[in-house]
Amino acid sequence: MQELTGNIYDYPVYYDLIFGSDWVAEFKFLEAAFKKHVTGKTKRVFEPACGTGRLLYRMAKAGYTTAGLDLNDKAIAYCNARLKKHGLKETAWVADMCDFTVKKPFDAAFNTINSFRHLNSEKATVAHFQAMANAIRPGGIYALGFHLTPLEGIPTDEESWSARRGNLQINTRMWPRDKDPKTRIERFNLRFDVYRPTGSVRIDDCLVLRSYTWKQFATMIKKVPEWTVEAAYDFSYDIDEPIEIDAATEDVLYILKRK
Ligand SMILES: C[S@@+](CC[C@H](N)C(=O)[O-])C[C@H]1O[C@@H](n2cnc3c(N)ncnc32)[C@H](O)[C@@H]1O
Repeated sequence: MQELTGNIYDYPVYYDLIFGSDWVAEFKFLEAAFKKHVTGKTKRVFEPACGTGRLLYRMAKAGYTTAGLDLNDKAIAYCNARLKKHGLKETAWVADMCDFTVKKPFDAAFNTINSFRHLNSEKATVAHFQAMANAIRPGGIYALGFHLTPLEGIPTDEESWSARRGNLQINTRMWPRDKDPKTRIERFNLRFDVYRPTGSVRIDDCLVLRSYTWKQFATMIKKVPEWTVEAAYDFSYDIDEPIEIDAATEDVLYILKRK
C-alpha cells in the first residue's frame, strides 16, 4: 500500500464518502431547530467551514437560499461543482471563518462536527463569533455541534468509520496523539485507508483541535454579547430532548441565538 502524509481536507472525494452519508439526522434536526428556535421564518442559511457541503447542498436542494465558506480551496471546488451539478447556485467561497463578511445577513447558520475547534486560540474563536454575529440577523440562530471535554468519565477519543461506493472502499480511524492542558491544544492521528481498483493508499493526517470544558465555552461565548445560549442538545439530534449541560457532558449541539 502506498503511504503518504497529507491534509485529509485536500481529498474531498474521500472526505465526503466517509462523512457525507451521515446527514439525515443532522438535516432533520436542523430543520426542526429552525422552526423551534428562529424568530420568524428561515429562508436563508449559512455554513461556516462547510467543507464539501454535504449538508449545504441538501439545504439548497430543499429550497433554502444557502451559502458557505471554507479555508480549503479543494473542498470549496468540490462543493460548488456539486451545487452546479444539481442545478443550484455555486455559493460557497474560500475564506477564513474568523475574518469574513456577508452582503445580507442570514436567518440561521450551522456548524456541526467540531469544525470550530480548528480555531486554535481564544482570539481567533472570539473573532469567529463576532463575524458570525454580523452574518446572522437578530432572532436568528447558530447551531454549533462539537465535543466538550468531560470532567467526569472517560472522553471518547477514538473513533473509526468505514464507507463504500462502487469500487471505492475507505476505512478511517482517529486516535489521540497528544494533549497539552495548558494551551488546550489536542492533536489526533487521522488515518484513511483507501482501496481502489487502481491501487490502495494510506493517508495519515494530524488533526489539531482546541479543547473546551463546558465552563471554558461559557466564558468564551460571553465575550461576544450578541449571542446567548438558547438551548443545548446531544448527538442523538432529538429536538424534543434538550439537555442540561454539566461537567459530564461530552457531545453537544448548542443553539446560540442572535440577540
Ligand atoms: C470536519 S470538517 C467539516 C466540514 C463540514 N462542515 C461538514 O459538516 O462536513 C472541518 C472543515 O473546517 C475547515 N476549516 C478549518 N479551519 C477553518 C477556518 N479557519 N476557516 C474556514 N474553514 C476552516 C476545514 O477546511 C474543513 O473543511
